[in-house]
Amino acid sequence: MAKLRAKLRAKLRVGVLISGRGSNMAALIQAAKAADYPAEIACVVSNRADAAGLDTARREGIPTETISHRGYPDRETFDRDVSAALEKHCIGLVALAGFMRIQSPWFPQHWAGRQINIHPSLLPAFPGLHVQRQALDAGVRVSGCTVHFVTPDLDAGPIIAQAAVPVLVGDTEETLSARILRQEHRLYPRVVRWFAEGRIAIADGRVTVRDVPPGATLLFSPEP
Ligand code: GRF
Repeated sequence: MAKLRAKLRAKLRVGVLISGRGSNMAALIQAAKAADYPAEIACVVSNRADAAGLDTARREGIPTETISHRGYPDRETFDRDVSAALEKHCIGLVALAGFMRIQSPWFPQHWAGRQINIHPSLLPAFPGLHVQRQALDAGVRVSGCTVHFVTPDLDAGPIIAQAAVPVLVGDTEETLSARILRQEHRLYPRVVRWFAEGRIAIADGRVTVRDVPPGATLLFSPEP
């Protein structure tokens, strides 16, 4: 009976925002194919019509929207249109996945506690752009990726989970990016699952994830 009730319960509707390749979006789409996954990718929104991820989403039969930021007088007006598109699809969680637009404060406030991002470093180290360059220049021996709630401060919201990878002698931005990306694809679907299962709570700017095994919020790369 409990199993049947769980089956009938509506899945969390996730809206993914992209600007390019969309490999994290694809990882979420793949994860959501499992019958017991508690979330579905209900729409993909891109600010660029040429984002490769749009084709992937369309092939998977997921509704897509393109809202070009060009021609908008300011960030907030663009953000309000993106938000309206998400609301049209009854989205319960916004997942940024390589969305290359800085949001006006309005958007993260409107979606507070309902918008997450994945960033390819162990935040708070190396926010912003050219993340792997920053890591290599700093000479760190470990890097990784972070999933966090989005707040008006760039790459600074409450951290939900991280994955660590080694930085190897001879690494380039490309090799380090690729190693991190493999972990991004493991980490993001887990966090979306926890969110959908109602396990994630924020108090005083800190996140707790209830009823997961100890250490579940920190993955380690099995490589090298
Ligand atoms: C990823 O490295 C993600 O962490 C960052 O942008 C990149 C997007 O890659 N925010 P993809 O479009 O998901 O392949």
